[in-house]
Amino acid sequence: MAIEQSKESTNAAIIDGKAFALSVRSDVTKDVGILKTQHNVTPGLAVVIVGADPASQIYVRSKVKLTTEVGMNSYHFEMPADTPEASLLEKISDLNKDPKVHGILVQLPLPKHMNEAKVIEAITPSKDVDGFHVINSGLLATGGQGMVPCTPLGCLMMLQNTLGDLSGKHAVVIGRSNIVGKPMAQLLLNANCTVTITHSRTQNIAKITREADIIVAAVGVPEMVKVDWVKEGATVIDVGMNRLEAPEKGPGKTRLAGDVDFSSVAKKAGAITPVPGGVGPMTIACLLKNTVTAACYQNNISL
Ligand code: GUN
Repeated sequence: MAIEQSKESTNAAIIDGKAFALSVRSDVTKDVGILKTQHNVTPGLAVVIVGADPASQIYVRSKVKLTTEVGMNSYHFEMPADTPEASLLEKISDLNKDPKVHGILVQLPLPKHMNEAKVIEAITPSKDVDGFHVINSGLLATGGQGMVPCTPLGCLMMLQNTLGDLSGKHAVVIGRSNIVGKPMAQLLLNANCTVTITHSRTQNIAKITREADIIVAAVGVPEMVKVDWVKEGATVIDVGMNRLEAPEKGPGKTRLAGDVDFSSVAKKAGAITPVPGGVGPMTIACLLKNTVTAACYQNNISL
């Protein structure tokens, strides 16, 4: 009975980000092997974390582990929450100059006393594997070749893997952050989609999302996208990673929820990413891919 019910209740293809990320990391491992053996270059990724935010620490630990797993060098720096901004800028300046370091990632958010934009702009654009530097966002906006932010890049790869050519599709991005919403919209535009960006001040979002062939939800509101927001057969990418209380699992227990009401939307969508196991693993895989790209660029190598 339970099995039948679950068969009936999910019509959408589940986009397996975990499996896709594994195959991307396997390609990265091959490229790292070529760089090492044929070019004597071992890509190196430096991750800097300031403060002890538990969620950030989990992300960083996972980045460090997977970096070494693909054969790259990992450099990990932890700085206390009260570190002066000037000390962080000095650390970045050292990493910019270090030829063993090809990628630099400063984990966000930073403590309140730091100016995030100033810190990001201090990273050499060719080592900015997050793709957050204005030079890289400018290159993305003008169709140039720069570092592309990892989460939107992972989303684009999953969309292309699911749908093939995206030309002419109406893509609706929910959210306008510099990290996800805006670069996602640019990438979709570069892939010849018709793109609509919606956000917290958009009126009647559901009317707009119901017209979408593709929905990318990156808004940070748990389970906001409901089944009546979605056109039959649409492809839905859920970037949300929200922790909710789950008393049904026991006292004090929590569960992860995306920005999409998965159980209902999965009945109507054509394809959908789960949370966890969708966008998250692809973000880290793309970070490693960007580090290889950075190492190639800095050493004038084309693979
Ligand atoms: N914090 C949450 N996501 C990210 C990311 O993609 N990069 C960095 N640097 N910090 C983050």
